[in-house]
Amino acid sequence: MSQQSDVKIGSFGYLGIGVSDMAAWKDFAANVLGLMVAGESSDGATLLRMDEMSRRFMLYPTGEDDVTFYGYEVAGRAQLDTIEDRLAKGDVEVTRASDEEKKARAVVDMIHCKDPSGVRIEIFYGPKVEFEKPFHSARPISGFLTGAQGLGHTVLSAPDIKASRNFYENLLGFLISDYITMEVAPKFSLNLVFMHCNPRHHTLALAPVKTPKKLFHFMLQLNSLDDVGATHDLVKSRGIKLSMDLGKHTNDHMVSFYMKTPSGFDVEYGWGARVIDDATWHVTQHNSGSVWGHKRAG
Ligand SMILES: [Fe+2]
Repeated sequence: MSQQSDVKIGSFGYLGIGVSDMAAWKDFAANVLGLMVAGESSDGATLLRMDEMSRRFMLYPTGEDDVTFYGYEVAGRAQLDTIEDRLAKGDVEVTRASDEEKKARAVVDMIHCKDPSGVRIEIFYGPKVEFEKPFHSARPISGFLTGAQGLGHTVLSAPDIKASRNFYENLLGFLISDYITMEVAPKFSLNLVFMHCNPRHHTLALAPVKTPKKLFHFMLQLNSLDDVGATHDLVKSRGIKLSMDLGKHTNDHMVSFYMKTPSGFDVEYGWGARVIDDATWHVTQHNSGSVWGHKRAG
């Protein structure tokens, strides 16, 4: 039996990050992650591409080294209007984007609000795509798995887990994938909640804990295991700090490793995740994050 599904977010469209070291970020994004540096937005963000979308990452030189906004895509105007209505009825202050904001994000229309952790959430439709300027990586990788599955996934700090679950499940329409309860430090367990809005196993995971940074990590999924292995070699040769070494996750079955971005939070670089079919998926719980590996460095 499938979980209830109404109008919901289609995919994770873009991520805004405030950075302190733009030069280091550009080098890391292009020459380690294999993303494409693609000019600037009208509001001064450095744009990064990973596919036909004109911007998947927007880097602002604001110095907070944390997420500044999440962009979630919906199919069109009807879905945007429905979600705007649902947010307003759920006592969330929601605002239509100005013309300047829409221009900066290169979208047809957008609304924005704050999630219960205080993170700016943007919901949009009609992103600019550039098939005429194909994505080209500076590195010899086979590319990123995006499309209907969106940019990737993120893990967010959600100290008020009840309010955050209400916001993401009941207002934005995310469905539960599964739970992982695991000991992250001696005698300290966390119950992580994994959610999906398309076949990607999770687009969002909530950690019920307050941390210095709101963004734990974001994940990029590669098209080939060789991309992950070759990048792992490169990361080691460049002396970039690994947070967790190669391993395979219990819930999405992703083979991945985690490294530090120039902003101090992690990026997970992975391949081979299983996908969700809502007609057959059932919610499960896990007591381990990994089948094997993912050894913490240091
Ligand atoms: Fe992850």
